Amino acid sequence: MTKFCSTIPEDGRIGGEHQTLAAVFVIKSAGFCYNFPVNKKKLIVANWKMNPGSVSEARALFGKTKRAGGRLEKVETVICPPFPYLGMFARTGTARVFLGAQDVFWANSARATGEVSPEMLKHLGVIYCIIGHSERRALGETDDSVSKKLRAVLAERLIPIVCVGEKERDTDGRYFETLKSQILASFSGVTGAQLRGVCVAYEPLWAIGKSAKDAMEPRGIHEMAIFIHKVLFDQFGEGAERPRILYGGSVEEKNAGSILVEGGVSGLLVGHASLDGEGFAKMLRVANAV
Ligand code: PGA
Repeated sequence: MTKFCSTIPEDGRIGGEHQTLAAVFVIKSAGFCYNFPVNKKKLIVANWKMNPGSVSEARALFGKTKRAGGRLEKVETVICPPFPYLGMFARTGTARVFLGAQDVFWANSARATGEVSPEMLKHLGVIYCIIGHSERRALGETDDSVSKKLRAVLAERLIPIVCVGEKERDTDGRYFETLKSQILASFSGVTGAQLRGVCVAYEPLWAIGKSAKDAMEPRGIHEMAIFIHKVLFDQFGEGAERPRILYGGSVEEKNAGSILVEGGVSGLLVGHASLDGEGFAKMLRVANAV
């Protein structure tokens, strides 16, 4: 099983008062030594899933979230409403609060009833697009369709948030291999240069949709973030750009700070907790303060 260690050099460390420094992780693993920057703005993504049920609730939640995110200098807030509401919020993004989509089709022109093209999203002012969420994968999304969607989204210059994560954990570490093949298949046909701007959301299925106490521990998240960077590094090589790694799965106001600080991730993909306008605003402020 692959082992990882990360050491923090003199010029910075994770957490505490050094969070605003350009901290650098040095990862060493069987000859693997890779620096990657952290501490850019935190990216906090609200994945509303199939909520809320009415237009008026959607407007109210969007307004609250946008106001809260708009005040924060060190956070980029992304709001991903269901498709029917996207048009309502078209081009209302700002330099701090962005519109995102929860899914997309892999072509701009096709006979594809019920699908939405990258081009349509682009015209609505959508900037980010979630691809391969585990709930889509459970409905039949494959690594192959994720990879097609990823390429289509990149071609349209939207920023993809590619979701990966194992269904369950075993005691001998086979989940590392599962995750690795998911990542490699999802990123097939993509070049190292295209990784610039890409986000990878690590969402272990066993930790999704529960409460903060069931989320993954920051230490384990840190290990998985390093692993994902290593898989991409091995595949795309030294010159490749470094994607931002997000964590998702039962993130709430209570655990957001420790995941951001100790988990070594650049941001969070938040499901149920993004539906509570007040609570989510608090979480954004926590992210701004770490
Ligand atoms: P959760 O969902 O925050 O409700 O666990 C996360 C997700 O599915 O993206």
